[in-house]
Amino acid sequence: MMNQFLWIIFPYLCIVVFIVGHIFRYKHDQFSWTAKSSEFIEKKQLMIGSLLFHIGIIPVIFGHVAGLGIPKEWMRAIGVNDHLYHIGAVYVGGLFGIVTLAGMLLLTLRRVTKESVRKLSSMSDIIVNFLLLFIVFIGVYATLVTNNIQHDFDYRDTISIWFRDLIILRPDAAYMMNVPFTFKMHVLAGFTIFALWPFTRLVHVWSVPWNYVGRSYILYRRHLRKR
Ligand code: HEM
Repeated sequence: MMNQFLWIIFPYLCIVVFIVGHIFRYKHDQFSWTAKSSEFIEKKQLMIGSLLFHIGIIPVIFGHVAGLGIPKEWMRAIGVNDHLYHIGAVYVGGLFGIVTLAGMLLLTLRRVTKESVRKLSSMSDIIVNFLLLFIVFIGVYATLVTNNIQHDFDYRDTISIWFRDLIILRPDAAYMMNVPFTFKMHVLAGFTIFALWPFTRLVHVWSVPWNYVGRSYILYRRHLRKR
């Protein structure tokens, strides 16, 4: 029962809350749809932390899409054998994971040690911060430590198949039963953040101002008064 709950009911619940929650927030609470910047309070740590986090997380997302979405056999067919894949996942994934972790550590430290930032933080900001820190930490730990201790474990034979089956609505909890504890914690915490997403500042992800890239500059000119 517990396995059915953790690896089938809970993930679907999180996905449903993610979708319905976004629709609800967009329809009823659009004015609070923001990243709630605290840049005007503290700039330096925010810039370094946020930059490291975003530089790290974008390749990590691509890594997840490849590792979870593309079957082992397809990778082999395009010339990426298991050894090559493992090297890429551990070294490249691990490197960007560490960059993400460093950013997340700095952002969390800033949020709790800078009094002015802390005072402006809501409970949801604090929860998102610590949950992200935990997910990233345990993900890096699983990649760099668990993978190297449990050589017989391959997440592409277990987690990835479970994940794809979940997406195509043919879930099978059995694939997750013998997965190492660190990976299990990472996946459960990962789904939890999706359920919280629509109710937090994370919604800003869907509102990246791409038009900034191509639009013309807004010129600000000093108004010179006639003396
Ligand atoms: C929700 C479902 C998720 C699943 C099934 C999942 C699965 C995995 C797996 C299998 C690994 C190990 C990769 C390896 O050993 O090469 C990993 C690593 C990692 N995950 Fe996740 N993850 C999920 C969500 C997340 C989220 C939401 C974040 C960040 C906010 C995240 C951040 C990371 C990081 C930083 C690493 C270590 C670096 C890397 O290997 O890419 N994961 N994840």
